[in-house]
Amino acid sequence: MGIGATAGVAAVGGIALSANASDSKSSSSSSDALVFDPDAYTKLTKTITDTEGTEHTVVYHFWKAITYVADPVDATYQSLIVSSPVEIDGKAVDASNAPILLANSIGGYLPASVATATEVGGGGSAMGGGAAPSGAPSASTSTSASASASAPGANGNTNATGGATSSNQLLALAAGYVVIEPGARGRTLKNSSGEYYGTAPAAIVDLKAAVRYIKSNKGRIPGNVERIVSAGTSAGGALSSLLGASGDSPIYDKYLKELGAADASDAIFATGAWCPITDLEHADGAYEWNWGANDLSTGKQVDQTVSKALRGQFAEYQAGLKLRGLGGFGPLNARNLDAYMVEQYLEPSATTYLAALSDSARETYLKANTFITWADGKATFTWADFLTHVGARKKDTPAFDAFDLSAGENNEFGTGTTLARHFTTYGAKNDSTGLSSKRVASDIPAKLDLMNPMFHLVEKVNQNRSKHWWIRLGTKDSDTSLTVAANLAARLDNLGDDVNHLYYWDEGHGANTDPGDFIKWIAQVTGHKAKRGK
Ligand code: DHB
Repeated sequence: MGIGATAGVAAVGGIALSANASDSKSSSSSSDALVFDPDAYTKLTKTITDTEGTEHTVVYHFWKAITYVADPVDATYQSLIVSSPVEIDGKAVDASNAPILLANSIGGYLPASVATATEVGGGGSAMGGGAAPSGAPSASTSTSASASASAPGANGNTNATGGATSSNQLLALAAGYVVIEPGARGRTLKNSSGEYYGTAPAAIVDLKAAVRYIKSNKGRIPGNVERIVSAGTSAGGALSSLLGASGDSPIYDKYLKELGAADASDAIFATGAWCPITDLEHADGAYEWNWGANDLSTGKQVDQTVSKALRGQFAEYQAGLKLRGLGGFGPLNARNLDAYMVEQYLEPSATTYLAALSDSARETYLKANTFITWADGKATFTWADFLTHVGARKKDTPAFDAFDLSAGENNEFGTGTTLARHFTTYGAKNDSTGLSSKRVASDIPAKLDLMNPMFHLVEKVNQNRSKHWWIRLGTKDSDTSLTVAANLAARLDNLGDDVNHLYYWDEGHGANTDPGDFIKWIAQVTGHKAKRGK
């Protein structure tokens, strides 16, 4: 396979590492800088194994990092890569009107970069889109996904950290879709003046700027810009759902203007979110409602006074949401949410899992897990037994707004030269770091709105949100409460949106065990029919 056109990617020019570019560029250059060059690709070939275990040879056009704003703060992160299939298994494909999978690789609210990516699946955050190991490699050294480019196994199971997004991207390409992978600034980025320039709302502003870039290049960029489907895992899932919920919301305008974002819509068609770590200002209460009775992996019990106080706050919040459960469950509140979680999500999840096992494997599983009653092809159990089954909770209390400001989310709400701040009244009141005011800073409420999909679905219902939602979460994921995704799904359902929400039985954080179904779902909701030549 030859190299296609090799015109340089003009917009990426010199990558500014942490320069503040807002002073140097005039806005008149913005429109030129943001024109996608259809000829500036390299032709690549990739072998992709689908979820049935069949290998496909995909020839695709690859556009390396393109800066998606005219006045980048840091082009290392504010760039995207594009992959568009031209031939699959020897047959020509026309992806000019195919859905666009907009797959972010953000994890931990950390920076994600595609600046040095050389192929599809080339995005990477400092933590690879999954659980946050301390001492994770820095973003600049983790941009290549060649190592994770192996396709999912025959069972489609890809629950490894970072596997979710990577397999979505590869499977999408093999299905004939265009794959666009945006980088975005993240919470740890600091300039030479010691200022944090990637904290809230930087990541969502960047993703929106990427969408505006894509939409403003309609007809030049491959794919149907009216059929953008976002995908992300964990913090990336949170940002994906926020992107879906907040389409064209004016509250981001001033931030987008500062970056010289393209003048176009940032609304997207559909949203995929795996284990979204979202609704952060209510997540501490939700966490205690869910995992409050569980001990830490050290065997230590968390502070019960704090846990109970937070649980009380959650009950109030949950009542205020006035949600109705899916499946005709009726009004949800903190007293019936356990029954709802069991009936709507957990038992069906266990049932699917057990039904797929061989008789002997099922027998073995049930012998080891006697809390499950298996009758008439259905699993039943209590919420209390389920909690015992999951075991150790991952986080201490409060899980997100730590009294000592040690949580990643405290950093996400940092600003200026301040590394970390409280973002809940309760966290600030109980601050252990010497915060004299014991209050959240005055800019925090607006930042929380900018970061929370629920704001766009509850407080200010956004008509330009995406109307198709794919939400997934492992039942053993205690990175946040299992109710966060369930509440998001219930609210979307109550608004009339199309919601496909399942829990993966016994899977942990970052699981994506049905990526093939996600790819089929994209075709279904977008009405896409593959156009193949002979
Ligand atoms: C992620 C995990 C967390 O536990 C969290 O609080 C935020 C983000 C992640 O994997 O992206």
